[in-house]
Amino acid sequence: MPAIHLVTELPGPKSRALVARREAAMPSGAAKLTGLAIAHAHGATMTDLDGNTVLDFAGGIGMLAVGHTPENVVAALQKQAAELVHMCSIIATHESAVLLAERLNALAPGPAPKRTALMNSGAEALETAVHICRASTKRQGVVVFEGAYHGRTNLTLAMTSKFNLFKKGFGPFAPEVYRLPFPTMYRRPPATTEAEWIDWHCQQLDHSFTAYVDPTHVACVVVEPVQGEGGFLPAPAAWLRKLRALCDQHGMLLVADEVQCGMGRTGKLWACEHAGVVPDVITTAKSLGAGMPISAIVGRADVMDAPHPGGLGGTYSGSPMACVAALAALDIITAPAFLARANELAAMIRARLEALQARFPRLIGDVRGLGPMLAIELVKDPATKEPWLEATQAVNAETLTRGLVTIRAGLYSNCVRLLPPLNLTDAEVSEAMDVLDASVAAVAGRLGAA
Ligand SMILES: Cc1ncc(COP(=O)(O)O)c(C=O)c1O
Repeated sequence: MPAIHLVTELPGPKSRALVARREAAMPSGAAKLTGLAIAHAHGATMTDLDGNTVLDFAGGIGMLAVGHTPENVVAALQKQAAELVHMCSIIATHESAVLLAERLNALAPGPAPKRTALMNSGAEALETAVHICRASTKRQGVVVFEGAYHGRTNLTLAMTSKFNLFKKGFGPFAPEVYRLPFPTMYRRPPATTEAEWIDWHCQQLDHSFTAYVDPTHVACVVVEPVQGEGGFLPAPAAWLRKLRALCDQHGMLLVADEVQCGMGRTGKLWACEHAGVVPDVITTAKSLGAGMPISAIVGRADVMDAPHPGGLGGTYSGSPMACVAALAALDIITAPAFLARANELAAMIRARLEALQARFPRLIGDVRGLGPMLAIELVKDPATKEPWLEATQAVNAETLTRGLVTIRAGLYSNCVRLLPPLNLTDAEVSEAMDVLDASVAAVAGRLGAA
């Protein structure tokens, strides 16, 4: 039986009515990618108010590696809700937070002893990571990269790259943030090999630490091992290793922002494992909480202990509800069969995307990602690589009409990114890819790119 089951057009009348109330009650600036209103969800499927069941390949923007409402997460939440909903960890300690910190400390790469601070969102984790690195190094500078997305608070907006969508009208932004180029393989100059492009970027790092900021001023270098919002761009392993070496040489701390690419999304628990690079600090969130708002900063104990006692905290940090959900999610994600399945999915989905690119070479400029974290980039012309925003919006709209939720990504908003649960069935993969095929075919036909 297919997973997608549609009884009205999408969005249906009840979704439209609730979204209209949302628009009247909430600010128009609040981001909204679809007109769906959801009643309940399980695994890879969501059912809307009209009774339509759709496949969810947006996963709350990468929040649901374990899928919607896994049984063990729901059971842990129900049990916890009956016992203790909230315990502000500034006031007293609850075992779930300690267990989660112990667990993340043990899972983080590298032999150094670790500490974990718990927060509520990805942006808060990034802000806190920067505070910790500044306290540890007694330096101010923060190095980030083109295409980066780190959140929407003032400091993380300063660290985020794309201006028009995220930053317009919101400045001034926090100072002491230095942005360097990111090695985007697809957009390398013609006649340059991948190896030459990576070499150029490694040399550019040396140059940048003279041209833009002195390394002795830099507290931390913050990098997404695979850029998420930036368009699913894996950082080349050699370049990440060069960053690690420069950090070691100059006493800068390396922060891996794994809010989107971590927790199994790339087929390994941590994306930085692919390059064999051990960061000093890792930020994690999204899939860690299986839908509950929680983030963590996991780092070397000597670095994490730098802030003065009382310097870190928050009313909700380490909430028992979020912590038991995270512990249950980790039970799923750390089971070897889970990552094995994620890698099977990677092979299946990549094969389908490459076949689609072979059918529509004028439209699909690139198929890329790491493991099952995969996207396609849509262009007007594969030779000029001119981004095709309208085609991307059209593909997202087509898949939605047919019952598959997909979202865009990329500096030019011209990538369709896939963030499904990592325990999909073969049948769900085939069904979703069939919808994507049909949607791309429809858009290519309509826009003259077939
Ligand atoms: C890499 C990365 N860092 C930070 C964030 C911010 O997370 P949040 O939306 O939970 O603040 C995101 C969110 O998409 C992200 O992808």
